[in-house]
Amino acid sequence: MFQIVLFLTSIYITYYFSPPTKSIGWWEGGEILGGRDEVAGGTWLACTRDGRVSFLTNVLELHTLPEAKSRGDLPLRFLESKKSSEEFAKEIVKEVHEYNGFNLITLDLSSNKMFYISNRPKGEPPTVQQVQPGIHVLSNAKLNVPWPKVQRLKLNFKRLLSTYDDDEDIPIKDMIDKLMRDDTKADKSQLPNICSIDWEYNLSSIFVEVDTPLGRYGTRSMIALSIRDTEEASLHETYVEKELWWEKTINYYINSKVRINDITLV
Ligand SMILES: *[C@@H]1O[C@H](CO)[C@@H](O)[C@H](O)[C@H]1NC(C)=O
Repeated sequence: MFQIVLFLTSIYITYYFSPPTKSIGWWEGGEILGGRDEVAGGTWLACTRDGRVSFLTNVLELHTLPEAKSRGDLPLRFLESKKSSEEFAKEIVKEVHEYNGFNLITLDLSSNKMFYISNRPKGEPPTVQQVQPGIHVLSNAKLNVPWPKVQRLKLNFKRLLSTYDDDEDIPIKDMIDKLMRDDTKADKSQLPNICSIDWEYNLSSIFVEVDTPLGRYGTRSMIALSIRDTEEASLHETYVEKELWWEKTINYYINSKVRINDITLV
């Protein structure tokens, strides 16, 4: 099966005080497709017409620098550059200390390589690693760190994949409905113990929805991207706007003449 599937859930502070974000769409110029942080202008997941994909997660940590650069610039810088994922990783690694903790994934279909870049743990050299074909899960710790929700998602994803034939189309909207709406919490003894136990417990499910004194906090956007070897790309988002859930799917053809590896990221 030559298909790449990517998933992401985005969590923002509250429905009331959260930074305004824009649901997926083509940006001005028509080259970049993705969501957008309307304050800082960056993105957490986007892809391009010529077959570049990038996304970002924050690293869960107590202390962050308010003066750090906006992490949402990182995927954008890759998507707008003409560099391969490998060249970009080598360039960006010199600047990673200017940002708060992040995990960045970059993929360009022309070189057919996916890279993972992270600036955590603090005090250690940054990570630059080529992501090999297979199933990987990225949460708010390093790639494949087995947090309970990471293990749960990986297992459920494998189970779901096994229900499809190799040559069968995988409907990504169904995958969101079957995998990403899971609000099962972890056992308290298995939490990473970075913040308060109560808070970590509330965030320990794949889908998060918590009532806090400041308002509701939780998952506001679930995005899935699929790219087939026929170069058909499909980006789907299920998201909150004006306190209601909406859905959007955008399909397009990638303009490049390359084969796609069997890389799956959840
Ligand atoms: C965790 O969630 C519960 C239920 O929504 C809520 O009452 C509690 O205040 C939350 N804890 C924290 C630390 O936000």
